Amino acid sequence: MASTSQTATAPLTSGLRTAVVPAAGLGTRFLPATKTVPKELLPVVDTPGIELIAREAAQAGATRLAVVTAPRKQGVMEYFERDELLEETLAARGKTDQLAKVRAVNGLVDAVAVDQDRPLGLGHAVGCAESTLDDDEEFFAVLLPDDLVLPAGVINEMVKIREELGGTVLCGFEVPESEVSNYGVFDIEQSEGGVGGVAGEDVKKVRGMVEKPDAADAPSTVVATGRYLLDRSIFDALRRITPGKGGELQLTDAIELLIEEGHPVHVYIHHGGRHDLGNPGGYIRACVDAALQDDTYGPSLKTWLADRLGQEN
Ligand code: G1P
Repeated sequence: MASTSQTATAPLTSGLRTAVVPAAGLGTRFLPATKTVPKELLPVVDTPGIELIAREAAQAGATRLAVVTAPRKQGVMEYFERDELLEETLAARGKTDQLAKVRAVNGLVDAVAVDQDRPLGLGHAVGCAESTLDDDEEFFAVLLPDDLVLPAGVINEMVKIREELGGTVLCGFEVPESEVSNYGVFDIEQSEGGVGGVAGEDVKKVRGMVEKPDAADAPSTVVATGRYLLDRSIFDALRRITPGKGGELQLTDAIELLIEEGHPVHVYIHHGGRHDLGNPGGYIRACVDAALQDDTYGPSLKTWLADRLGQEN
């Protein structure tokens, strides 16, 4: 395990300290680019996905980003290191805007590398990060970098829910029935209204969870998106599961085990947007979406797109 030298400056207000980011995947949906460029470094407009994740984690109060990487993806950790020569050059040339952009990632969080030497699944990746937590850390966040959840801030909401209800808090999304088999699917208690007062009816108790079921067997159309607030007891559960869907150690199965043993698990149903940065189709949408809201690129992109789409008819 290696830690970057910068000091974390985010205020520790939420009790959340560590955010785990599983980033060891091969990026097969994004070949050939991912042959040499980790998908977490592909930019949304000009900012790599890993920096968006680091910002989101820091905003939720996390001071440590445990990045689970594979030996061939060292570029992800290098991104958190300072480039003094580049900074000096930009400063000497008076390029203050670019200098601020280059420095923005430093000081957001303390990025810590966690090696996952074999691709044994999301559950295995999360388990690898256990040693990065302090002994008295009772819970931590997991942010999947493929999932861009909009607007950012859902983890903050989940932290508030945990403060009220304890246990584990997950993030759910309604999807069409035809898409459920791509996700972990929740079996939720269909109570009137919600549980607890924080987020009203968008908080539900989870009765069970199943990884990528056939549509016919799915308990609901509410699926897990890539934001988790996990109780530390998940590590013990992860040690006790056996390979599940796809022969991999599934985080979903460890959560299901906790539920079976009476551990409280709630889902916060998020109504915002979401992009899947892990494949070209979702990534292009994310880029267009972000660029349309960008002061520099938005206006001309909008004009060009309208013109371009006009030619399609
Ligand atoms: C993972 C999880 C799945 C979850 C999904 C969200 O699947 O295993 O439960 O719904 O992330 O993006 P993956 O997309 O890595 O196959």
